[in-house]
Amino acid sequence: MLRDAFLTLSHNTAVRNLATGLPPARRFSRRFVAGETLDDAIAVVRAMNQAGVLATLDYLGENVTNPAAARAYAEEYIGILDRIQREQVKSNVSLKLTGLGLDLSTDLAFENVRRVVSIARTHDNFVRIDMESSDYTDRTLAIYRRLRDVGFDNVGVVIQAYLYRSEADINALIRRGGANIRLCKGAYDEPEYLAFPRKADTDANFVHLMQLLLSPEARQQGTYAAIATHDDAMITATQAYAAEQDLDRQAYEFQMLHGIRTNAQLALVRDGYKMRVYVPYGSHWYPYFMRRLAERPANMLFLLRNLVR
Ligand code: FDA
Repeated sequence: MLRDAFLTLSHNTAVRNLATGLPPARRFSRRFVAGETLDDAIAVVRAMNQAGVLATLDYLGENVTNPAAARAYAEEYIGILDRIQREQVKSNVSLKLTGLGLDLSTDLAFENVRRVVSIARTHDNFVRIDMESSDYTDRTLAIYRRLRDVGFDNVGVVIQAYLYRSEADINALIRRGGANIRLCKGAYDEPEYLAFPRKADTDANFVHLMQLLLSPEARQQGTYAAIATHDDAMITATQAYAAEQDLDRQAYEFQMLHGIRTNAQLALVRDGYKMRVYVPYGSHWYPYFMRRLAERPANMLFLLRNLVR
């Protein structure tokens, strides 16, 4: 129930204006957000790289309401890719299609993402398209397929284990060949007719989908898998299945979010696994921050204690 309340509040403009003006909330958001500028984010990535951790940089922004803002979001990503190249940090980028104008038009979002993916290709870099709420699943997968159809193979997508449709989506992506898929549990408020309401069912589906992604058939089709979770049970199940398949520890990757389970990130690197951390930055941190609170109400209690103090 608390999860639903935070996810509902994540769309509320009045609460957003209040929260983003409160210094304790801004301070606490820094636990999950690298900072407001690309300089802040690059400093975080550099420190991670020194510890053997790879990064994916995310410029916070979603649901833009005019084409100029969508173009500006694309320009920021081009700046990130140039900066990664110039500074030789080990990072790719993750972006949201609603930041690139998906609410305005599918073609606008496609043109903007195509520009970013094309610049990434000239830098030998990679673009991950995050998955947003189920309103966007079909359009996001269609844009991913269209990018692949016009010849880009430096782009990947995300599948959410809480959606009933995800097994069919993964099978279709595997069959098509060369898919690059991040598997996560899913962070949005979804109705019961689309998503498992019980966490145990999402977890079971996550393990099932992970096994599909790392199966011999998927590997034969050139699938690359990123297993994005902080959940020890999911990580252990992945390690066990990959070992059973005799998979090299560098043949797939684990991913986590900046500020969550840093020690576990480092332990995986020490054990020889590939580990990539999602590093968001920018001033539009509110919806991202609320999704992180929704995942773990203890975070909210911590924030409230600080506000009262
Ligand atoms: P679960 O929620 O069961 O948490 C397991 C344990 O991890 C908790 O017990 C706690 O210890 C720790 N933990 C988890 N969340 C925490 C938090 N916020 N604060 C502190 N501790 C926490 N979703 C989506 O819908 N679309 C997307 O594109 C992405 N992209 C993405 C990229 C990456 C790299 C990651 C790691 C995650 C995403 N997600 C996402 C978010 C994902 O769907 C999910 O909401 C979170 O990862 C939380 O789920 P867990 O798998 O960690 O398990």
